Amino acid sequence: MTHENPLQISRRGVVRLCVAGTASAALPACNHGTDHGDDVHIGALEDLLGGEVVDFEYPEGHAAFAVRVGKRARDGVGPDEDVVAFHRACPHQGCPLVEMDASVARLGPCGCHLSEFDLAGGGVQLTGRASVPLPQVLLDVRGGEVYAVGLRGVAFGEAFTVEQGR
Ligand code: FES
Repeated sequence: MTHENPLQISRRGVVRLCVAGTASAALPACNHGTDHGDDVHIGALEDLLGGEVVDFEYPEGHAAFAVRVGKRARDGVGPDEDVVAFHRACPHQGCPLVEMDASVARLGPCGCHLSEFDLAGGGVQLTGRASVPLPQVLLDVRGGEVYAVGLRGVAFGEAFTVEQGR
């Protein structure tokens, strides 16, 4: 028996929510939810495997980064499944997350209220005031190039987001 995580909404699910939201005017962010399903090219897997941290936006307007964390990670890609990507906005109050120790797969502490996140464990919060995991950008590798294909979690400031089927 499978259970759908309420924070993992398929693109089809978002379309359904938006149709319902249009009727009830309860989901003002619908246009965002339906528009950001396009894959975003991040860069060469080889560069990430070499230790490069790549910044990008996914969906548009949401700062994110991709990094190799050196140990197998939830939804990691690459030969060792250790390349992951996350948003930079802290899910507590949106402060930018800039401190990182990729060698231990740890992001933070957040400069505002000291939250830290496990980059190998799906962005789960480890310390601080954040009460939800950091949104993880889901990746796919095609022809040696890495693409952002979806998001698990709710982007800071958004009502909901999408996860593209994988
Ligand atoms: S904004 Fe990051 S812990 Fe509060």
